[in-house]
Amino acid sequence: MRIIEYRDGPFVNREGDERFLLERFKGRPEKILFIYGPKSSGKTTLVEYVVENCLQNDRGVYVNYINFRGHAIVNYKDFIDIYFQPISEGQKSWLTRLKERLSLNLGLFRGSASLPIKGVSFGLNIELYNQLRRNEVDPFVVLLEILRNIKEKRQPILILDEVQALQSIYMNGEVRERHLLTEFFNFLVRLTKETHIAHIVVMTSETLFLEKIYNYAKLAETSDFYKIGHLSLDEVREWLSHEGIEDEAVIDLIWEYVGGSAHRINDAVRVVKKGDDIQKYLINEAKIYRGKLSQFISKEFDTVEEMDKFGEILADIVKKGFLIRDLKDKLETKVLTKAIDYEFLFLDPKDEKIAFNSRIIKKGAEMLAGQVG
Ligand SMILES: Nc1ncnc2c1ncn2[C@@H]1O[C@H](COP(=O)(O)OP(=O)(O)OP(=O)(O)O)[C@@H](O)[C@H]1O
Ligand SMILES: [Mg+2]
Repeated sequence: MRIIEYRDGPFVNREGDERFLLERFKGRPEKILFIYGPKSSGKTTLVEYVVENCLQNDRGVYVNYINFRGHAIVNYKDFIDIYFQPISEGQKSWLTRLKERLSLNLGLFRGSASLPIKGVSFGLNIELYNQLRRNEVDPFVVLLEILRNIKEKRQPILILDEVQALQSIYMNGEVRERHLLTEFFNFLVRLTKETHIAHIVVMTSETLFLEKIYNYAKLAETSDFYKIGHLSLDEVREWLSHEGIEDEAVIDLIWEYVGGSAHRINDAVRVVKKGDDIQKYLINEAKIYRGKLSQFISKEFDTVEEMDKFGEILADIVKKGFLIRDLKDKLETKVLTKAIDYEFLFLDPKDEKIAFNSRIIKKGAEMLAGQVG
């Protein structure tokens, strides 16, 4: 197993996932790839690692990676500004010096674009940029044309993290309001299944959003779903041993309380290295979740039936490790939806299993059950 330094910290394993991605990018783009998994399982880190270490220096590919969580997207113009920036006449001297200058043919409009110098936004001549902002030109027609140009020399790879941030944005067209995300996904299907121009990777940490996509027939057919779960016991053992933690009792305790959650293991390692009492620390972390769960119950549930149902669900998941939901049970569905929305629970849309987002939440639930029972 591999443990390397990445961003001044350990990056544990993920070799198989890395190989999977690189293999996929070598083939012809056929489907959108959705990467999903429980909260903080390491989805973003894995993809950023692959981009920085394997793709960025590869002249055969062009990578455009956007984390929508890092942008305040309130309206359609904000979205346009993520992908496009204007290049004015005054800047043309350096623009012409750009190696990757693309000439666009968009039917009525001809224009020029350049590859991002830094960041991800394509430079467009100012008329085209203004037309986009005024909603006179379809941004996806422009993007398709840019990527088609790039494809002649390099394989485009578009990576979109936290794409659910676009959920409430509309493109205010003249004829009717168009939902941005629907148009965006249509465009991604066009880039993969229909034209095979670009590889597309979409990541999201919102389970309910992912479920909507998974059940939307058109996208389900044109997408693959790849899970990044928490680390396994063997991986955690090796990581801890790499950090000089060999005491079996300490290893057991860490696994018992935080399982394979990478960022929680990082914290636990810090506590051990500082010489603090790890057991006290872990119990305290679980207590925090007991408090969060108890607050959630009193804030979100109005009836005794709802509270009892939630208690039943927690007990079930604690006992079996997961729950298969019964969509016909309206009360269960309502309660589960809230708990998933609050990120206590994670729903895997592929096998319909519902589990805790992390082990520390399970420990908090156990404490709560012990207190109540
Ligand atoms: N393989 C790994 N080895 C060690 N640490 C890791 C690994 N993967 C992720 N981490 C650490 O775990 C934390 C969470 O990772 P990351 O943000 O990538 O998760 P995520 O799945 O994208 O989360 P979210 O569900 O919020 O989108 C980060 O602090 C990261 O440094
Ligand atoms: Mg992430």
